[in-house]
Amino acid sequence: MEVLGIKTELIKIGDDMVKALKKGMEESGLKLEEGDILVVSESALATSERRVVNLEDVTPSRLACTLGAKYSKDPREMELILKESDEIVGGIPGVVLTLNGGFLYPNAGIDHSNAPPGYVILFPADPKRTAEDIRRRISGGKRIGIIVGDSRTHPLRFGCVGVALGCAGIEPVEDARGQVDLYGKPLLITRKAVADNLVSAAQIVMGESNESTPAVIIRGAPVAIVDGSCDILRIPPEECMYIGALRHGPHPYTGGYDDLIDEALQARKASYAPYSGFKVGAAILTKSGRIYSAGNMENALASASICAERAALAKAIASGDREFEALAVVGDTSMPMSPCGICRQMFSEFGGDIKVVMANLKGEVAMARISDLLPEAFDGSCLEKPES
Ligand code: THU
Repeated sequence: MEVLGIKTELIKIGDDMVKALKKGMEESGLKLEEGDILVVSESALATSERRVVNLEDVTPSRLACTLGAKYSKDPREMELILKESDEIVGGIPGVVLTLNGGFLYPNAGIDHSNAPPGYVILFPADPKRTAEDIRRRISGGKRIGIIVGDSRTHPLRFGCVGVALGCAGIEPVEDARGQVDLYGKPLLITRKAVADNLVSAAQIVMGESNESTPAVIIRGAPVAIVDGSCDILRIPPEECMYIGALRHGPHPYTGGYDDLIDEALQARKASYAPYSGFKVGAAILTKSGRIYSAGNMENALASASICAERAALAKAIASGDREFEALAVVGDTSMPMSPCGICRQMFSEFGGDIKVVMANLKGEVAMARISDLLPEAFDGSCLEKPES
């Protein structure tokens, strides 16, 4: 197997990557051959796709400032991380671990390296589509594969290895289950990360810094070129050895909402629960970064009592807010405090995506979306009359 680097001029914002690659190949006398696999660096692609942001143009929200202080990050960068990711799983000073589209990345893939001073590079918007576009435009009728490659570290190990963000023309993971080991026993869980391994090989030639080699051709790899869509499949977080193990431990990550839990704990102090003695605190974070909190409020007439979550929601709605990012609820429960059905219904009205951060006084936390807690909810669409 050969790994042939394609040197190009520095890829600038908005440059046509395919043109640059064609020129680079021509200058070094390289031509694509049947079965070749082209690995292209994600940062060069993102630059060509204008996925580059001047930090001076970013205004951080209150949440970004809070999280920036918590994780020692520039709040403007934290703002971009919040925008680019679905969830912040946790973090250490300088790095937060995020989930984007079901994959785990440091800082939502936002990178300073190879970006002009004062700028950061985001991930390419849709690496799979980019890979397909490049394949269509560069193949010249040859059957080739394309991989958009990035680098990453493994837990508790130094050093970067390759990872494929998107592919076209090759199956990213080869299922080796059913094959037999040296002693004839069938392999039960082995899948080969073919595309990731090819990116690692590519990176030995590409380098990570100023080598100006944003792509390589891998020739003679024992990998079949395929047609059709090549998806990189993901493992749900709860089934992942790393994330599942950390989340279900005694102190699972709270996805960066520790401050919201603190607000709920504060509100719990003002709970009025003389009948049940069961104090609950809730805090709602709006998409604009405002927080509304309340405790539960009981009444001699039991049915006139109101839960902490709904008391906080009433405050938010009365203040004109309608868009919510997260709800934290805390009670003295053996498991993280789970909101009642009526509260689920009332929050569901404002979006199934709202994150519910459930906590107890032991510091245990669990997180779910409203739509997970109340699937198939009764909503406004149910009131529409069926067509006769
Ligand atoms: N409670 C809440 O505040 N939130 C819930 O989600 C469940 C229950 C309160 C209502 C009542 O004051 C007490 O807990 C016992 O039901």
